[in-house]
Order: sequence, then structure tokens, then C-alpha cells
Amino acid sequence: MKTLEVKLPGGVYPIHIGAGTLDSHLAAMVGGIATELVVVITSRTLNEDCPQHVRHAVKALADLPLRVETCLIPGGEENKNMHTLASIYDRLMELEANRSTVLVAFGGGIVGDVVGFAAATFMRGIEVVQVPTTLLAQVDSSVGGKTAVNHPQGKNTIGAFKQPVGVIIDLTMLETLPERELRAGLFELIKHGIIRDPELLEYLEQNAEKFGGRDWKFWEEAVYRSCRVKAGVVQEDEREGGLRAILNFGHSLAHLIETHTGYNAYLHGEAVGAGMLFAAFVSQAMGCISGEDFSRLRQVLEPLTAPIMLPPLGRDGFTKLLMHDKKAANRTINFILLDQVGHAFIRGGTTPEELWPLFQQFLEEMPGVLRVGDG
Ligand code: GLY
Repeated sequence: MKTLEVKLPGGVYPIHIGAGTLDSHLAAMVGGIATELVVVITSRTLNEDCPQHVRHAVKALADLPLRVETCLIPGGEENKNMHTLASIYDRLMELEANRSTVLVAFGGGIVGDVVGFAAATFMRGIEVVQVPTTLLAQVDSSVGGKTAVNHPQGKNTIGAFKQPVGVIIDLTMLETLPERELRAGLFELIKHGIIRDPELLEYLEQNAEKFGGRDWKFWEEAVYRSCRVKAGVVQEDEREGGLRAILNFGHSLAHLIETHTGYNAYLHGEAVGAGMLFAAFVSQAMGCISGEDFSRLRQVLEPLTAPIMLPPLGRDGFTKLLMHDKKAANRTINFILLDQVGHAFIRGGTTPEELWPLFQQFLEEMPGVLRVGDG
């Protein structure tokens, strides 16, 4: 078992990583702050597919002198919206929650984001413990305090920074994670190596045969190193004044893919996988990394991809979708590029006009990764 600390001006919080952390750490963490009521909020999908995990979380809290309640919300990126958020407020009102109530966000990235935002806003802010159950949420969304819901015209457009009291990563949750979700999470994990930790990338390259398995020693090390990168970046730049934007490597195209497909066709990690290959492709095309570097990245990432099909998309649509990214300013975006494998930088002032021909080339050269329908 391993523990990391995220040290921010507003306080320090732990991330516990290992097989069995739900039993060893959840009650102590919640018991340390809640006085009356704790509400475990999870998705209906997780509750139906793996009721044993939800029971496990509730049981872990059972010995505390607290009322333990649950709240079920719809899963899926298409439900990461104001309606789902409102349903959490309704349930909290029904349970007579107050400012001392603690929320446990038990689920994947969508649950973590919506519940985190509910915690940031209910009664002007209550505490939340993040218990991520998917690989993607474990290595990325549960750490760093970004919470949000989507607007139909833009992902994560309504949100807040809300750091949790702590993060509990129980690797045994990966046991039942569908293979597709595991692969999607791997992209964010590999991302941390590509943008900031060449040793993590090498570790992953050397252990690629363990990606589909349940070797907890491997996952503990991989998730720990990945969270360490994420925590390090967040510590340097909590509010994304600059550096934190490198975590968005691959995300410009990923957000375009997700918005253009209505948020429900592909998992976030899958869109990020295609987006990272595109960002690596652009890095090479702009002369920032060598052809050899690009091939190396392609070798790690491409075997994990499954083709993404986009509805018809012309130059205007491409521009419009990129500009809807909330980081767009003055008709340009911050595009994250690599200047070496293991080091990303922010290229401000990137225009859709520059990216459009590269996007066309990318589609031609990598049809196994991304295709656009002809309408
Ligand atoms: N997922 C990107 C960030 O937390 O900044």
C-alpha cells in the first residue's frame, strides 16, 4: 500500500493507493470529519453491475456512529449535466443534509466530477471524499479538485475547484472493470509518463504485457507513479494559471470528439487516446519531436485504440468545435505539444486553421484511430 500527499495552500490531503484501501482507510477518513450523516453517491450502472462494491463501501462505514445513506445517479457522460446535479441536491434535501454532511463520491470520473461539484455548491460547500472505482478516475479525475458538469455545447463548462478531504484508491475495484474501461484509463495513465515522467513511460513500455491483467504490484506502482505526476502538477499550479494545462495533452481533439458525438459514443479515455496520438502527430509535424519519437509513442498508444467514427465534419465545424473549448481565447487555443518524450509544453495562439490540414493528414495516415463519415 502506498500513500501520496497533495500539498496545496488550502491544506494537505492524502491519496491512499493499494488493494484493500477501502477497508483500511475509508472509515477513518470519513469518521475524522462527519458528525451526523454521510451519503455515498454512486451511479445506477455501478450499483446494478457490481452491487458488491457499493455494499462494500457502505459496510466499511457501518461501524461509525453516523447515519449512512446512499444516492444513485444515472451514469454515462451524457448524464453529467445539470439534471443529475439537481437530483443530488433533491436527495440531500430529502435526507435533511446539512453543512456537516460528508459526501463519498463512489464511482468513475463522471460520478467524481458531478458529486465533487455538488459538494462545492451544496450549502455553499461541504466535504467530499473521492473513492474512484475506474482506472481513469484513479489516475486523473479524482486527484486535483476539478469538478464540473457539461453544457450541451461544451464539456465541463460549469464547474468549480473543490479539493477532496482525501482520495481512496482501492485497486481491487479494477477486478470487475470492463476491459474497455481499463484500456480507456490506461491512456490517461500513459499520458502522465509522456508529458512529465519518462521513467514512468519506460516502466509502462517494459510492462505492457501486464496491461490486461490484475497484477496488483504492477498496478500499485503504475497508479502511484501516475498520481505522483498529477499531484506534482496540481501542487505547482492548482488553478491552471499555466503548467496544469499540460494535463490537457490530447484533450483538444478529445473534447471535439466527445462534443461532436453527443458525449455517449466513446469513453473519455478513448477520445483522449486518439487526441494524444494527434497531439504527438502535430508535435512531429511542427518539428518539435523526431519521427523516431513519434513512432515510439505510436507503438505504445496505437495497440490500445479502437477506431473512433466521427459524424461528417468540415473545416467550419472543426473550427467551431475547437473554439467551444472553454480555454479558447481570441480565436486561438492553447494546444499541448511535446518537445521531447517525457516533456510537454503549452503552445498558445494555435489556430484551427493551422490544425485543420494536419487533422486531414492524420485522418489519412491513421484510419485505424479516427475516421470521419462523409454524410
Ligand atoms: N484532468 C486535467 C486536470 O485535472 O487538470
